[in-house]
Amino acid sequence: MNSAIIVAAGKGTRMGADVDKLFLQVAGRPVVAHTWQRYEDAKCIDEIILVVREGKQTAFQELAVRFNFRKPHRLVAGGVERQVSVWNGLAAISSHAQIIAIQDAARPCTSETLIQATVQAAGETGAAVAAQPVSDTIKESADGQTILRTVDRARLWSVQTPQTFRVEIIRRALEAVRRRGLTVTDDTAACELIGQPVRLVRGDAPNPKVTVPADIPYIAALLAGLAANTGNQR
Ligand code: CTP
Ligand code: MG
Repeated sequence: MNSAIIVAAGKGTRMGADVDKLFLQVAGRPVVAHTWQRYEDAKCIDEIILVVREGKQTAFQELAVRFNFRKPHRLVAGGVERQVSVWNGLAAISSHAQIIAIQDAARPCTSETLIQATVQAAGETGAAVAAQPVSDTIKESADGQTILRTVDRARLWSVQTPQTFRVEIIRRALEAVRRRGLTVTDDTAACELIGQPVRLVRGDAPNPKVTVPADIPYIAALLAGLAANTGNQR
């Protein structure tokens, strides 16, 4: 069976102190309810673990009732760093789980096609990540004010979620991170540490993350379009 871990235990500091970005109402429902719906609908996913902040459990239970989420799900507490939240999620997956898709709760437009493609690639190679080739010209700056040089864009990819793994691989990778006392910004960096190749899975639709207030109008428009296509807006 395949499990999903939706990490939803961040503080959303870049969005601003007085808003909880995961509960911002966008295109008819909270951001995280869009993300949860994607995994509810994904036929390749059998159970969902939601990693949430202390005190938020009730709000998530209410979402399950309000949006009629029926797929088996469990709520677990997050940690200070994203990698601790992922670790706590891994401790809660079914003992029958073979493939784990790790998803940012703040990334509500992820398509079922992309989830399925990373699950398939992880089954073949052990690890896979949703990614896009970088399209802007990239410059390096030493002081944040002037350009030092142009970086060769042809080799650069920006990675997103889902980040999807065979369970024994992500456990071994995150154990290595913990043993060495490192902090990694994503789960594929943990794989790099143990020499595990990670397949890049290029998405064919935008898959942005809600990070700063300026992201909202674009993501709201994308979600409104997706809801019109699938009829899942309630
Ligand atoms: N996340 C988490 N536990 C943490 C940190 C982050 O579960 N300790 C989750 C967030 O809830 C989010 C995802 O990881 O769904 C991606 O993180 P990011 O976009 O950076 O969200 P935040 O960490 O909440 O935002 P910020 O960095 O602005 O504080
Ligand atoms: Mg963060």
